[in-house]
Amino acid sequence: MKQLNSEQLRSLYLEFFKNHGHSVIQSASLIPENDPTVLFTTAGMHPLVPYLLGEKHPEGTRLTDVQKCVRTGDIDEVGDNSHCTFFEMLGNWSLGDYFKKEAISWSYEFLTSEKYLGIPVEKLAVSVFAGDETAPRDEESAAIWEGCGIPKDAIFFLPRANNWWGPAGITGPCGPDTEMFIDTGKPKCCDTCSPACDCGKYLEIWNDVFMQYFKNAEGGFEPLKQKNVDTGMGLERTLCILTGKNSVYETDLFTAARAKIEELTGKSYGESAEVTKAFRIILDHMRTATFMLGDRKGITPSNVDQGYVLRRIIRRAVRFGRQIDLPEGSLGEISSCYIEKYATVYPELVENREKILTELKKEEDKFSKTLKSGLKEFERTISRLQGTVIDGVTAFRLYDTFGFPVEITEELAKEKGLTVDTEGFKACFAEHQAKSAAGSEQRFKCGLADNQEGTTRLHTATHLLHAALRKILSPDCAQRGSNITPERLRFDFNFGRPMTKEEISAVEDYVNEAIAANVPVDLAEMTVEEAKAQGAIGLFESKYGEKVKVYTIGTYSKEICGGPHASNTGELGKFVITKEQSSSSGVRRIKAELRYE
Ligand code: ALA
Repeated sequence: MKQLNSEQLRSLYLEFFKNHGHSVIQSASLIPENDPTVLFTTAGMHPLVPYLLGEKHPEGTRLTDVQKCVRTGDIDEVGDNSHCTFFEMLGNWSLGDYFKKEAISWSYEFLTSEKYLGIPVEKLAVSVFAGDETAPRDEESAAIWEGCGIPKDAIFFLPRANNWWGPAGITGPCGPDTEMFIDTGKPKCCDTCSPACDCGKYLEIWNDVFMQYFKNAEGGFEPLKQKNVDTGMGLERTLCILTGKNSVYETDLFTAARAKIEELTGKSYGESAEVTKAFRIILDHMRTATFMLGDRKGITPSNVDQGYVLRRIIRRAVRFGRQIDLPEGSLGEISSCYIEKYATVYPELVENREKILTELKKEEDKFSKTLKSGLKEFERTISRLQGTVIDGVTAFRLYDTFGFPVEITEELAKEKGLTVDTEGFKACFAEHQAKSAAGSEQRFKCGLADNQEGTTRLHTATHLLHAALRKILSPDCAQRGSNITPERLRFDFNFGRPMTKEEISAVEDYVNEAIAANVPVDLAEMTVEEAKAQGAIGLFESKYGEKVKVYTIGTYSKEICGGPHASNTGELGKFVITKEQSSSSGVRRIKAELRYE
C-alpha cells in the first residue's frame, strides 16, 4: 500500500477523477445553504442535492471534491480510535452521466493501481445490495467487481441495513450502494462473519451509492429523473488504514497539534488510556471548533443552533484540558497548528485567523471563570443526592449560573453512575425563556429571527404553507430556505416554474381553511425513525434513535422542527400571499402575511 500523507491523498484522488473527465469543485460551507432544518453539512452529497434531483450543475455532469463535514451524533464516542466530529469526505459524482460500470471500475483502479493507492487485491472485500421489495438484488455490481478481479468469496450480498444509503434527511435522493473494505487478515469471528460485522476484520474505506430513487414524505420510493452516482471516502480513515496506524489521531493531520498539547501539558499521548482519551477529545474538538469559526459562513459560540454545538465542544475541550493540566488560555495555540496544517487546502482558516483565536479566547475565558465553582457545585449536589437522578432544577442552575451545557452535566453524572432529568431541565429552560424577553440574537431552527408572538404565528403559517405547496403543486416541493420577521414570512422551495393565480389562491385557501378550523398545534417528541414512519416532513441531522420534535397541525401538517409555534391555528389572522417570484434556478420564493383586521 502507498504510504501517503493527507496532502498527497487529496491531490491523488482529485487528479484521478479529473483525468476521468470530472470537474474539481470547492468544498461547500459547513453550514448548509437554504436548509434551516439541518445544522451542518454531513456528507459530500449534501450540497449537491438539487443537482442529484435534476437541476443543471454549472460545472457539468461529472464532479469531484473534498468536502468538509461535521457529524455530532456520535460525539460521546470521540476518544476511541476512529470517531471524529469533523472529517473530510473525498467524493465523485455522476449527475445522470455514468453509472455502475464506470463507478466500480474506477473505484477498483484507484484502490489497486500502483500509481494510486496500490492496495493488493487480496486485501479487498466488497458488499453489494441483496435486494428487497424496493430494488432488485444487485447482480450487476457483483458481476462488475468480479470482472475487475475481486474473487466471488470476497463479494458479500447484504441487506438494506448495510447496503442502502440515504436520504440524508427524511426525504430525498437515495439508493443501493456497494461498499469497499480492507480485509485486515484477522480470522473470521464466526461462520457468518462479513463486512456487516463490527469484529474488526473488515474496515470500510469507500462507498459508491447508486442514487436512482427519491424517498417521498409518505415513505415511498419513486424513480429519479436521472440515475446518479454519489461516492464517499473518509480521508482520515483511509489515511489511517494506508499508513497502518492504530487510530486516525496518529495520522499526519494531527501531528503538530498533538506535539503542541504534549509541550503544553508535559504529558505524552499514549501514556495511559485516560490521557490518550483526553488528548483525542481535545484534538478532535479543537479541530472542529477551528473549522466552524473559520468557515466563510462562520459562526460564533451562542446558546442556539450551530453556535450552541460550537459552545458545547469548546467547553468540553476545556473540561478535558483540565484533566491533563492544559494551561488556561492555550486553546489558541492548538488551533494555530490546524490553521497552518490546513492553510493551503482551506485558506478561509488563514483569512479568519484573528476571529478564530479571539473567539476561542473569549469562550475559554468565560467558561474558565465558572468551571471550577461549577464542578464544586456538582460535587456538592451529588454528595447530598438521594437516589441516582440529578433533578432538572439543579441541571438548569449548572447551566444558567455556571455555563455547563446540559450534555456536560450528563457526562459528569455518567462518570459517577448517575443520570440527569433532562425533561425537568427542558421544563426549567422553557420557563426561563418565557420569562426573559426574547433576545434579538435568538434564532430558531426553522428560520425565525426572534420569538415574538408575530413571528411565532407566522412560523406556524409557514408549516401550513409548506404542506399546502406539497398538496397543491407537487409532493416533491420542499423547503429550501425560510426567513421570518414579525411582519412577514419568506419561504423558498423547489419548483420549476411560476405559480398560476389559481394555484396561489388554492394555497391561500388551504392555509385559511386550517386557520378557520381552529385546531391545536401539537408537539410530540419521537425518534427520527418514528417521525419518518408517520410521514413527517423536514430534514434533520440526527443519529439512529435520536429524538426529534414533531409539530402536528390537525390533519393539515406534520413537520420536524425546533419550534416555537402558536398553540392553536385560531390565533392566526388571514393568510395572504403578497409575492411569488423566482429565487434562483429551480427555486421559487413566496412572501406572505397574516392580517388581523
Ligand atoms: N453519501 C455517501 C456516504 O456518505 C457516499 O457514505
